[in-house]
Amino acid sequence: MNGLAEVLPFPGSTPEDGTSAVLCGLGTFLPPRVVPNTVIAERLDTSDEWIRARTGIRQRHVVEAGMSTSDLAVEAGMLALKSADLDDVDALVLATTTPDRPCPATAPDVAYRIGLNRVAAFDVNAVCTGFLYALASAAGLIAAEVAEHVLVIGADTFSTIVDPDSRGTAAIFGDGAGAVVLRAGAAHELGALGPFDLGSDGQDADLIMVPAGGSRQRSTRRPAEPGAEFFTMAGKAVFRKAIYQMAGSAQSVLDKAGLRLRDIDRFVIHQANARILTGVADMLGQPAAKFVRNIDHVGNTAAASVPLALTSACASGELRAGQRVLLGAFGGGLTWGSTVLRWPDISVL
Ligand code: UT7
Repeated sequence: MNGLAEVLPFPGSTPEDGTSAVLCGLGTFLPPRVVPNTVIAERLDTSDEWIRARTGIRQRHVVEAGMSTSDLAVEAGMLALKSADLDDVDALVLATTTPDRPCPATAPDVAYRIGLNRVAAFDVNAVCTGFLYALASAAGLIAAEVAEHVLVIGADTFSTIVDPDSRGTAAIFGDGAGAVVLRAGAAHELGALGPFDLGSDGQDADLIMVPAGGSRQRSTRRPAEPGAEFFTMAGKAVFRKAIYQMAGSAQSVLDKAGLRLRDIDRFVIHQANARILTGVADMLGQPAAKFVRNIDHVGNTAAASVPLALTSACASGELRAGQRVLLGAFGGGLTWGSTVLRWPDISVL
């Protein structure tokens, strides 16, 4: 076996494959304000013990009044560019369910404030799967030679849409942003993204939603029902589907890549609930230790979840260059997605 073949990411890939998207930068940002479970338990009928035992969450970061999703996205995006040693990219894709305003998209504003002059910039909304959908969109821009470098950001401020009086959501979600830089490269390079598995099931759209504020409600010309502007989630039903779909999507992407479960060193999947991570590991028959966990100190950060978990694992040494990594997510829509890569040698700032 020659040296090149040894680093081919997927058995099916060859050095002659077309342009690949290669991960070359990583940055994250959490708002400074930390809300531990005990503070939530002072207000709601819950306890630190319940939240830790049922979700694995100890604390979450929450924006101050007046701070928005774009503020977090700008910070994470700038750090990702710095880590990639770049000043400029050709496009910015922002995954978010909590844009600064319903219109226009938040991405152009983020691009402008980062100093990315006149680049293509658009939002993607796939709720907690947003980062995977944004990665796939960015990889597509690179494969089509529309862009050579793309900044992909996942940023959400769910504290601005959860009902502060709902223990089922207020105790789960946190705010944050994570970003990666993708560059045009070759499939044999470390960091090259492999195939994607993306899917949706709109039949279950109402399991995770914000009922009011869109055209369905606004076309009635009547004010929204009280409380309908808040995010709702049918926790138990979503819990089961999250495990089933993330495990299924992981298996599908491995099949596409010609890999087996045992080839994967680390699973970095959406941090929705520590028990969901264990459930996916069990369903796949994989050791739970292969699953990166940072939910304890950030909670469920929606589109920011996967890049925040990548950064934690990279900083702690849990993720090392050359390891085969599977990224996966599940969220409202319903939506799900996965991809694989061999972890590049990048610095976390
Ligand atoms: O991010 C993408 C998608 N999201 C997810 O994947 C999240 C999936 N769902 C979950 O993580 C869990 O379902 C929750 C954490 C939301 C809820 O945990 P659970 O163990 O599934 O609880 P449950 O919904 O089955 O509720 C059991 C009980 C209920 O009380 P009753 O009706 O049995 O009296 C809930 O009202 O637990 C209650 N409960 C709580 N109790 C104390 C729900 N949340 C809380 C809470 N503190 N924070």
